[in-house]
Amino acid sequence: MTAYPGLDLLSTAVLLLDESLQVTYANPAAETLFAQGRTHLVGIPFDRALPGNDEFVERLARAIDSETGFNDNDLLLEVEGYPAHLHCVISPIEAAGEARLVLEFRELEQQLKIARETKILEQQQANRELIRNLAHEIKNPLGGIRGAAQLLERELSDPGHREFTQVIVKETDRLQSLMNRLLTPSRLPRVEALNVHEVIERVRTLLLAEFPRELTIRRDYDTSLPDLEGDKEQLIQAILNVARNAAQAAGRRGEVRLVTRIARQVTIARRRFRHAIAVCIEDDGPGVPADLADRIFYPLVSGREGGTGLGLSLAQSYVSQHHGLIEFDSVPGRTRFTILLPLRERTQ
Ligand SMILES: Nc1ncnc2c1ncn2[C@@H]1O[C@H](COP(=O)(O)OP(=O)(O)OP(=O)(O)O)[C@@H](O)[C@H]1O
Ligand SMILES: [Mg+2]
Repeated sequence: MTAYPGLDLLSTAVLLLDESLQVTYANPAAETLFAQGRTHLVGIPFDRALPGNDEFVERLARAIDSETGFNDNDLLLEVEGYPAHLHCVISPIEAAGEARLVLEFRELEQQLKIARETKILEQQQANRELIRNLAHEIKNPLGGIRGAAQLLERELSDPGHREFTQVIVKETDRLQSLMNRLLTPSRLPRVEALNVHEVIERVRTLLLAEFPRELTIRRDYDTSLPDLEGDKEQLIQAILNVARNAAQAAGRRGEVRLVTRIARQVTIARRRFRHAIAVCIEDDGPGVPADLADRIFYPLVSGREGGTGLGLSLAQSYVSQHHGLIEFDSVPGRTRFTILLPLRERTQ
């Protein structure tokens, strides 16, 4: 392998590829970014070193054929099953041994992303507090209204008027159950060691029961994942809420994929974790509506007919009780929600 000492010092990740898209060189920044040792990158075709990026590989092949490079300010690459947002500059080169293409990558505004997540989490905390207080205040008088309507019903001489008291009872019941849902995430997690696949399999069973015959669920699990410390019921509920949205978005004959991977060097709300479990829920539906994208984790935000807009807000609060985070990226035909659950470091 040719050595390029100058490139070793760069903070930008650099890969060199030969004519057949095989990696001939990777600098240390590339090893860090792609979480692989140099020996796992060099000498390996790019599509095997970083599988799951077929579209990008096609763009690389075109760049070699046409001898024209390209830039991408918003590149989404799959790195070990986990999405990485990157800025890249791809340039063809001549006369540099066997190398034909230089690939430069930078992580996209890592700092900005961290700050944004922290802000989102803080804002959500404040929102939840407000909504909980409000829900309490609304819930209290509901019992009185319902009781009074029932008393009134007994006094009514004209049975035709019962229809109206029954509307009052039915609507207070509906409000009551909405308020109960708003008030649920108050209990502290009951933590135990658990296998994330058991949790996901449970979700799969529930989903298949809810969407019989119309939904395909594919699984791609990394079975070597270690156990997780967590609250089983809360995690089932969190993943179910996300997966249910995916199933609803996928619609008839749609497909939902459940994927698990290990994620490395994850920062959530300024805390850095060496490892986290990434649970990805993907669907082939129309994607998250652009005008909602910034707000879908807020309570009562819904783009779905008949939706209460609580599913994701509850899921996010369960996951943040586990020091984790839910994020998503979405284009029509491919939406992926990633639930990151940090692993406690084992002391050896
Ligand atoms: N996989 C997805 N594809 C497209 N849009 C989605 C997806 N997941 C969520 N959304 C959008 O985000 C909105 C908020 O989701 P959330 O689960 O919080 O509420 P909801 O599904 O509308 O109601 P609820 O879950 O309380 O019954 C959805 O209404 C939908 O517009
Ligand atoms: Mg939902």
